[in-house]
Amino acid sequence: MASIIDFVFNRGESKGRLRPIHRNDWAMVVGWWNDPEVRRLFDVHFVNQTFADAEKWFSKAETGEGEQLPRSFVIEVDSKGKWLPVGTAEFYSERPSHKTVEFGFLIGDKNWWGKGIGTETAKRMTKYGLEELGFHRIGAVSAAYNVRSMNALQKAGFQIEGIRKSYVLRDGQYHDQTLMSVVRES
Ligand SMILES: CC(C)(COP(=O)(O)OP(=O)(O)OC[C@H]1O[C@@H](n2cnc3c(N)ncnc32)[C@H](O)[C@@H]1OP(=O)(O)O)[C@@H](O)C(=O)NCCC(=O)NCCS
Repeated sequence: MASIIDFVFNRGESKGRLRPIHRNDWAMVVGWWNDPEVRRLFDVHFVNQTFADAEKWFSKAETGEGEQLPRSFVIEVDSKGKWLPVGTAEFYSERPSHKTVEFGFLIGDKNWWGKGIGTETAKRMTKYGLEELGFHRIGAVSAAYNVRSMNALQKAGFQIEGIRKSYVLRDGQYHDQTLMSVVRES
């Protein structure tokens, strides 16, 4: 059972891991959601968020509930021998009878953007979702201007399946939303 998922990034020079999220992580996550630079890239948490919003978002993802494998993780990086939380990765909107789900990821600590963490996280979560959680399809959405997110997802095997036109209103302008997915082959 994979409750901690290890990975390397920064061209193999740095270590990271995904560990299940806990309630005492939520306040930190809300802080990331409310950072204007982070929020502008989001499709979901685009208005001011509270602890109650985090509770709603993550309530089904807490670990230790029955036999359920975790759906939501904190991304941590090895910083001078200590695990430093830098973001989150989660499955949401699960439809058990269809075995489909949506994937979201976020690096809230902007110092860690563009170092390959998002790509490695998307790869590990895709493998975990398909092989261990048994999903048939994993979907993801990005505002069409969020090139970094789409690049990371494509490297994890996601393909663009469509565009929702004028779906995202940002700074007084409408933008398209890109729909992506990875579907299990067999
Ligand atoms: C999206 C996100 C998770 C990606 O994680 P990341 O660790 O920053 O991404 P990576 O370092 O793995 O880079 C992904 C790709 O984007 C590229 N990239 C880096 N900086 C970029 C920039 N300024 N513009 C466009 N692409 C960029 C990288 O080079 C890489 O592609 P490449 O390997 O083909 O060159 C992270 O940037 C983030 O949290 N953003 C804010 C929240 C968000 O957008 N979440 C996703 C919502 S759907």
